[in-house]
Amino acid sequence: MKITVSTIPLAEQKKDALIVFYQGLENTLPAGHAQLKKQLDALIKKSAFKGEAGQCAIFPMAGKQIIATGIGEAKYFYNGLLEQAAAAAVKAGRAAGFKSFAMTAEIKLNDVSNADYQLLAGRGAAWGTYDFSTFKSGAKKPPVCSLTFCGIVKDRTAVKAAQEQGISLLSTADLANLPGNEAPPAKIATWARQMAKETGLTCQIMAKAELQKKGCGGILSVAQGSAEDARMIILKHKGTDPKAQPIVLVGKTVTFDSGGISLKPGKGMGWMKYDKCGGMAVLTAMQMIARMNVSVPVIGILGAAENMPGSRATRPGDIIKAYNGKTVEVLNTDAEGRLVLMDALGLAAEYKPRAIVDLATLTGACIVALGSSASAILGNDKQLVNELIDSGIDAGERLWELPLFKDYTDDMKSDFADLSNLSRSGGAGTATAAAFLQEFVPEDIPWAHLDIAGTAWIESPKPYQAPGATLFGARLLAQWVASIG
Ligand code: BES
Ligand code: ZN
Ligand code: ZN
Repeated sequence: MKITVSTIPLAEQKKDALIVFYQGLENTLPAGHAQLKKQLDALIKKSAFKGEAGQCAIFPMAGKQIIATGIGEAKYFYNGLLEQAAAAAVKAGRAAGFKSFAMTAEIKLNDVSNADYQLLAGRGAAWGTYDFSTFKSGAKKPPVCSLTFCGIVKDRTAVKAAQEQGISLLSTADLANLPGNEAPPAKIATWARQMAKETGLTCQIMAKAELQKKGCGGILSVAQGSAEDARMIILKHKGTDPKAQPIVLVGKTVTFDSGGISLKPGKGMGWMKYDKCGGMAVLTAMQMIARMNVSVPVIGILGAAENMPGSRATRPGDIIKAYNGKTVEVLNTDAEGRLVLMDALGLAAEYKPRAIVDLATLTGACIVALGSSASAILGNDKQLVNELIDSGIDAGERLWELPLFKDYTDDMKSDFADLSNLSRSGGAGTATAAAFLQEFVPEDIPWAHLDIAGTAWIESPKPYQAPGATLFGARLLAQWVASIG
């Protein structure tokens, strides 16, 4: 979506539709829109529109089309609702055949700054144009849409970021939504290489032979039951200070998780094509980081493998060796994400980074704890965890911290190896998985793990998006990295 700025007031814009946000029945138009506000409020009073989160209505008014979009009550507000309201408005507008949209450059909404509003609403509007139609026969190429922010914008950073982040999200969404047969690890690697070429990142890909040479026993053990070989994909953004310590972002990229020999039940197994979404969030964030040209060096690592129950598959009871030398007894082959990540984290640590953040659709237990309302965050460094939580608040992606007690590590004692990939008690699934990962990160490197199992995709249509990948995590990672420099 092309996003521009215009000094012509909203009410005088000649666009297909004007978007106005409502917090309940409270109009969020800034000062100077008295006439528009009065007319629209009068129309809304007589309608069923209540400004609830996700509610959208189109009002023809004096030769113009106004899309009123709801953010919900002030007391339940978080930034994600603003982004979603923008997406819902554009999605509804697109369905009505509109292509050009306008909204004010300023907003009167809780304590949201105008810059935050421009980023959230612009990015949301771009997301609202997205449609995954790759496999729909006869689908037409969607038209190029535009958004105009009306008013005076002295600093265009947020508007530009919205446009660049929108491009990054939409292009990666087409990859993230591909099913397992269309997106094996090799395909993810080719896609990453191409994206790196286009955005100025460098890209290194390790295939089976190199992973064997390096001793990456975790990712190899996950892939060995599949006809598709694993890839470790490493993307690098140089930044402006090559001597600065890098940040490393790591993503679980399991292109399909059947469970392996510990086969998952059939019901809902198709959703496991989204088990690559940690990696997809990292790919998106790396693209955003490159496009926004942030100054800090950032490295993105994707551990890509398919978890299948082929005749060479890892068996429960097998003992494998991680890149960092620790041995692991695989008691359940469905707890494969941690096996991929243990090698990726070991490799990440070699860069002597200032911080490592990993993202993974790691545990069903995370959905039990938080549903799809927030992702879990756990880590070894309070400051890093808090920074990420704060960036999540700004970016509209909510994180909720869970503890990393030593009990969880003790619970993974193995009779035959250094540790097992399963807890004895079976409790605290999300924290146990994080405690497992912690074993592969040196204590002196600040590290945080985000379990995005409940947030990485949606299964039923929402006003702001159709079922599919959400790319949760990319927005907050870009926010966090940009806040560092
Ligand atoms: N990819 C799954 C976790 C998952 C499940 C994500 C449902 C999203 C929705 C992961 O690899 C897995 O299967 N984890 C197991 C771990 C268990 C065997 C310790 C789980 O959560 O059941
Ligand atoms: Zn699994
Ligand atoms: Zn998995």
